[in-house]
Amino acid sequence: MQTLTITKPDDFHLHLRDGAAMASIVNYSAAQFSRAIVMPNLRPAITTVDMALSYRERILDSVDKKYNFEPLMTLYLTDNMLPDVINIAAQTESIKALKYYPAGATTNSDCGVTDIKKIYSVLEAMMKNKLPLLIHGEVADSEVNIFDREKVFIEKVLEPLVDDFCELKIVFEHITTKAAVDFVLNASSNVAATITPQHILLNRNDLFNESFQPHNYCLPVLKEEDDRLAVLDAATSGNSKFFLGTDSAPHSRSKKESGCGCAGIFSAYNALELYVEIFDNQNKLDKVEPFTSFFGADFYGLNRNHEKTTLVKKETRIPEAIPFGDDKLVPLCAGNACSWQVKF
Ligand code: NCD
Ligand code: ZN
Repeated sequence: MQTLTITKPDDFHLHLRDGAAMASIVNYSAAQFSRAIVMPNLRPAITTVDMALSYRERILDSVDKKYNFEPLMTLYLTDNMLPDVINIAAQTESIKALKYYPAGATTNSDCGVTDIKKIYSVLEAMMKNKLPLLIHGEVADSEVNIFDREKVFIEKVLEPLVDDFCELKIVFEHITTKAAVDFVLNASSNVAATITPQHILLNRNDLFNESFQPHNYCLPVLKEEDDRLAVLDAATSGNSKFFLGTDSAPHSRSKKESGCGCAGIFSAYNALELYVEIFDNQNKLDKVEPFTSFFGADFYGLNRNHEKTTLVKKETRIPEAIPFGDDKLVPLCAGNACSWQVKF
């Protein structure tokens, strides 16, 4: 039987939620990943050091003791964030980055930043403290075609930003377009990107396959086939600017299958297996380990993990749904087979 042994991976973009919902799902991530960059878009948003540290404790309380899972915390940037908070965050061991949501761009982003110029003094403090800026790279302008929002963001916000803050470390999160791949490739070594499983597996037709597919709806929304191929190429290229970030974002089945369904795809059930299957289908198994386990850690200045993970090529079926608090949760590719399996 074919096997693949790699350094245990990290997830550089993860939504864990809180309370009973978090308790239902956190161990899927803890089983596959050593560390995860945890997104701060709770309600209320994680905007202070104290909030981040107590959220971290709640996460650790929900993690099964058999895992050595380390949550790496982020703060949520608002127009009112103060440079002093950045200085204090930088002194902690566990706060690793700040997340920039353009106000209104995605789930729980209503108190995000309304104009990047409003946080220039904060970005200055981040640059000095070497804390990375994690960007949801879409304009929130309803006049802009939803499929163009990433491209327009690059032109309107990112290009001026990298000129003004050439030493700021930036992660362009969950890239979805050829324009984003090209931007990252042409930018300095301070600019990198995370790539989700869904954006290299699916294109926008998968939203409308026979009938509307709410479980394939996330933001940034799936793009055209050419974009998918460009992002897939970047992920499997062995270029250290591109690394794993699932953007696993659970919403209950009732909230997804609703008249105004939430954006977000839950992939943490078996994200690592899906990535390996995708790389295998490209004959790029040799590029799995750097993408899943080296490039992100290197970019963040973290030590690479020592633990190993072995996967076997063996078909398993992804369940139709799993428990989620007192509701259900539908994983990415629910009901389909996956050709790789983590060996526990
Ligand atoms: C995320 C969520 O649900 O928190 N949703 C999503 O579609 N990706 C927010 C985000 O990362 O945009
Ligand atoms: Zn996200």
